[in-house]
Amino acid sequence: MKDVLTAPFMVEMIRTTTNMYAHGWDERNGGNISLLLDEAEVKEYLETDRVLRTYETGFSAPSLAGKYFLVTGTGKYFKNVQYAPDVNLGILRITEDGEHADLLWGYTDGGKFTSEFPAHMMSHVERLKVDPDNRVVMHCHPGNLLAMTYVHSLDEIAFTRTLWQMCTECIVVFPDGVNVLPWMLCGTNEIGIATAEKMRTARLVVWSQHGIYGAGKDLDETFGLIETAEKAAEIYMKIAHLPLVNTITDEQMHLLEERFNVKAREGYLN
Ligand code: 13P
Ligand code: ZN
Repeated sequence: MKDVLTAPFMVEMIRTTTNMYAHGWDERNGGNISLLLDEAEVKEYLETDRVLRTYETGFSAPSLAGKYFLVTGTGKYFKNVQYAPDVNLGILRITEDGEHADLLWGYTDGGKFTSEFPAHMMSHVERLKVDPDNRVVMHCHPGNLLAMTYVHSLDEIAFTRTLWQMCTECIVVFPDGVNVLPWMLCGTNEIGIATAEKMRTARLVVWSQHGIYGAGKDLDETFGLIETAEKAAEIYMKIAHLPLVNTITDEQMHLLEERFNVKAREGYLN
């Protein structure tokens, strides 16, 4: 057996949580990540028949049965992941009934998966239907996106169009736009169901007055997705109180669609 701390998925998870903390997106225990792992890869590092604990998840996700995930722990600080990955992270396998999770590694202080496990797993279910290569669900609290939900309309078309107009490459990076949930109680199955529903049509879902969810094929791509949306929100927060003199027009957006071979979400451009 190889040392799981040297696994590429582990190294990448540690780098990503460290980087997200450095960006100020994950104060205290803010944020959580789940990464879908390859069974064959996990078996290079762990005895997969050695189950340390079994948790009830409180929801049913039969389509994830037998799937392995590397997941941040509840109450754990992204800042600390690099110093004690085995305390702050866990490797889980969803059981055959789809209602429990077997712990195979990690949470060594007796901890548990993130309180947002329902939103993560339910989002994986929906994203895998749209994109079989989707492996990552990432949640964090980036300041400018959060700020924007206090001063901008939460209408999804309006919110998306504003972000697209703030940096030329936004429409290229997230042509599917940004879906938006109103304020809801976090850590519940209800917000999990609502987030997953929104994940059917976009890889970014804003949680108003809370943060954002991103989904993608790997950690780098998903980080980049949130990073791009957050950059756009930063520009918005810099200019929102000033008279708008210039913008990126819909005509110019269409040129970007052509140049980069992307299609903006239906009905979002004139
Ligand atoms: P956890 O510490 O349970 O992951 O919660 C952090 C968070 O951001 C809740 O939305
Ligand atoms: Zn949160």
